[in-house]
Amino acid sequence: MGYTDNYERDPYGIIAFFLRNDYDHGRFFDREISHYETELARANLNNVQRLGKIWERAAKKQGDIGRLIDDAQHATNEFHSLLAYTMDKSLHCEVIISTPLSLIDHMVREAEESQRIFKLIDSGETYTPSDAIIHESVFWLRQMADHLGYIHHYVDLSNYDLHHQITQMTEKFQRLLLQAQALQTMIRPPRNKMLPVLDQFRKMLIPEVQDLEKFKLELDDLIKKCAAATTSPPDLLEHIAREAHHLWRNLEDEVIS
Ligand SMILES: [Fe+2]
Ligand SMILES: [Fe+2]
Repeated sequence: MGYTDNYERDPYGIIAFFLRNDYDHGRFFDREISHYETELARANLNNVQRLGKIWERAAKKQGDIGRLIDDAQHATNEFHSLLAYTMDKSLHCEVIISTPLSLIDHMVREAEESQRIFKLIDSGETYTPSDAIIHESVFWLRQMADHLGYIHHYVDLSNYDLHHQITQMTEKFQRLLLQAQALQTMIRPPRNKMLPVLDQFRKMLIPEVQDLEKFKLELDDLIKKCAAATTSPPDLLEHIAREAHHLWRNLEDEVIS
């Protein structure tokens, strides 16, 4: 698993994870912008370059962390604005791109999660393990269910059996998301105590997310070898496997990061 070699969970590593996430989104989006949309393509590329440079600094743990967070926040805010603006254009059928609306929304939400995490690291704010499990599962399970939908979107229709398997996994993750949302409203704040139902949910979730990570990595391998008919960017599956990895590590450590 190549990506886990440089997946670190100290503040620099977490900042690098989110910067790389947005950087990848920009690169993937670049492939799907029509050549008629020169301004959008240029603006997106500027964001990719800027995010890439800050990501590099974070990955090398270079310089003062306060300055790094500040730069990361500015770059993420700008990218978020571009995506939200494009999503609105797409809703009004005023832009020529092949990216589905829900995928733009997915990227907007991950940019917003980056903004939250940068703020959290900067403020040193504290939260309880119960709050962490509820936040992580409600936020990321929707992303996990979405990922399976995007695999559907990119994998060629001729892979009938794979599509069937993906449908079943999507339904499973949608049910897990509903359970997380139910726990969120049933267990009201302040969530000082870890309730057995929430801990049991966490324990059940970790292996499910690990299996999803494994599935994504297996498909990643096939796509990189050009052995699966797909229109997916070559490293998209690795990207979404990394997000699954991030989720189960956070569930294991009972933290928001
Ligand atoms: Fe992502
Ligand atoms: Fe994602």
